[in-house]
Amino acid sequence: MSIIHEAHIGGLALYVLRKVFTDDETEEMTSKYVDTVKLVINDDSDVYDENGKILARFRKAVIPLDEQTSFYNALGKHLHHIGQLRGIATATELTEEQRKECKTISRASAITKFNGKCKSNIFGYFDTFTPHTKRLMGKTVWKPYARICAWNRKNPEKYQQTLPLIKQVDRLYAKLQPDKYSKQREKADAIFMKIEDTAFTTITTNINFRTALHTDKGDDIDGFGNLSVIEYGSYTGGETCLYQYGVGFNVRGGDILLMDVHQLHGNLPLNLEGDAIRCSIVCYLRAGLWKNTKGMTKEECDAYIQRVQSLGKKSICNVDGLRDCNTDLQALRVIDDEDFGDAKA
Ligand SMILES: [Fe+2]
Repeated sequence: MSIIHEAHIGGLALYVLRKVFTDDETEEMTSKYVDTVKLVINDDSDVYDENGKILARFRKAVIPLDEQTSFYNALGKHLHHIGQLRGIATATELTEEQRKECKTISRASAITKFNGKCKSNIFGYFDTFTPHTKRLMGKTVWKPYARICAWNRKNPEKYQQTLPLIKQVDRLYAKLQPDKYSKQREKADAIFMKIEDTAFTTITTNINFRTALHTDKGDDIDGFGNLSVIEYGSYTGGETCLYQYGVGFNVRGGDILLMDVHQLHGNLPLNLEGDAIRCSIVCYLRAGLWKNTKGMTKEECDAYIQRVQSLGKKSICNVDGLRDCNTDLQALRVIDDEDFGDAKA
């Protein structure tokens, strides 16, 4: 068992865990599925490593049902878009031959050909352009790398309906991990491309997505990850696990898990009954967005968003040199529709 120490104080369990796999053993599991863990936690708990470093804080039933419903209904079809942008988390493992082929084709074609599919989508703001937008920009990609995501740009009223849940997550993060929150919030407060009145720039949603083991990239290194869940229907499994410590958290509807997402993590098998839904939500700050836009005024940000947005109104087939819609361009269109980004779970 990985437990060094366990205590129960009031309704809160405290665990100190040791590593059950070496760093090398853990590294080797990247992009593989975890099928079982030594300890599954179902109740409010704080979990530390053997050096006293916080690994996770888990709280049950802290997000009100009306905030969950508003969030889920506002996003609607956007939640269910099937994309191919979760590489490692979809257990995409390439053979040596496939790796060689990737070097001979565009990134867009490689993604379309090899990446696994899943319902993982983003909204908010992001710090890379879509391949389509890059093509439209021509030889010199504009700076800063920053943009508003397509869904909230096109659906400003629905976006407002997602905010109560996001602000609830923000409050829980501030309450449960104030030291890391304040550092992240300071960065968020220095930029304008962000979810207003929060420490977040970007939201990822995942529907019925059992992630393979991965670490999150692109988020604030000084911050702490979070994951909340909305559920409909009946399912078992899907626990979110910190592989190296042999621990999983049974995060269900209305719960929140704050955790060190720079540790290898993924889900246990998810067993859905019928059309059951497990919607996981990750709110985070894109470090690149902060670096790229700090120092810009609100007026400069708004003008830049408008400038990038005006590019999207061009038809890709009207751009010089791109009149023939070959396979590569078709791939770019697919990717552009789904709001390109290395999302999280
Ligand atoms: Fe993740």
